[in-house]
Amino acid sequence: MSTQVTVNRFSAMVAPTELDAFLNDVWPYQSHFSQAVEPPMQELMTLPGLQSIEGLVAIPRRAKCRIHYTHEKGRNPETNVPHDEMVRAFNASQATIYVQQLQEPTIRAWCQDVDAALKITPGTARVNAFTSPPGRGLGWHWDDHEIFIIQVRGTKRWYLAPEDWPRGKGLTAEGDDLILTHENGEQARRDIGECRIFDLTPGSVLFVPSDVWHTTETKEESLHLVMNVGRNVPMN
Ligand SMILES: [Fe+2]
Repeated sequence: MSTQVTVNRFSAMVAPTELDAFLNDVWPYQSHFSQAVEPPMQELMTLPGLQSIEGLVAIPRRAKCRIHYTHEKGRNPETNVPHDEMVRAFNASQATIYVQQLQEPTIRAWCQDVDAALKITPGTARVNAFTSPPGRGLGWHWDDHEIFIIQVRGTKRWYLAPEDWPRGKGLTAEGDDLILTHENGEQARRDIGECRIFDLTPGSVLFVPSDVWHTTETKEESLHLVMNVGRNVPMN
């Protein structure tokens, strides 16, 4: 793999921000949104396995898959079910399908390029995929590692807590709102309207730093990749 291809793939994920500027000014603490949709993104947008639910569940993977019955209150998620059952749940029950650690060759090439561009230990970047029907996604939460969200199909709205709000502990979620706890113990209810809104369409890439509170809303049937890039010891 040439250095140029490596740089091109990662540069497409953060365009028009230059790689050095991303590394110096954004990574790993600031969120970042790219809607430039540069040519290398077409590699992911057109991957056959990402064009249908049948294709997605057939991609080899190294970890669990899961069905979330987001439209059926009280029904528990199911893990590691047969392919045809995932397809049926998606089509008949409008369930969200979650598949982890995709082993598709093009996706693996992107992971290698991202590891190299971010100078993190090879093998760190891993890609999961979510496909979901319209409606509210996961409630407010934060993840303990950095992620790139890559929208492949449909549109999805992401709500991120403002940069200056506490990350991880210090906020709690209550329905659509976040509760901010001040140092003196007083609590304030923060409306979702105060949050930053990012509307992702095919080719959009959103970088979400570790511990940043977020929630989502799917506008139309959506498939997105989550590239986990948990920070690691930089290579010398
Ligand atoms: Fe998340």
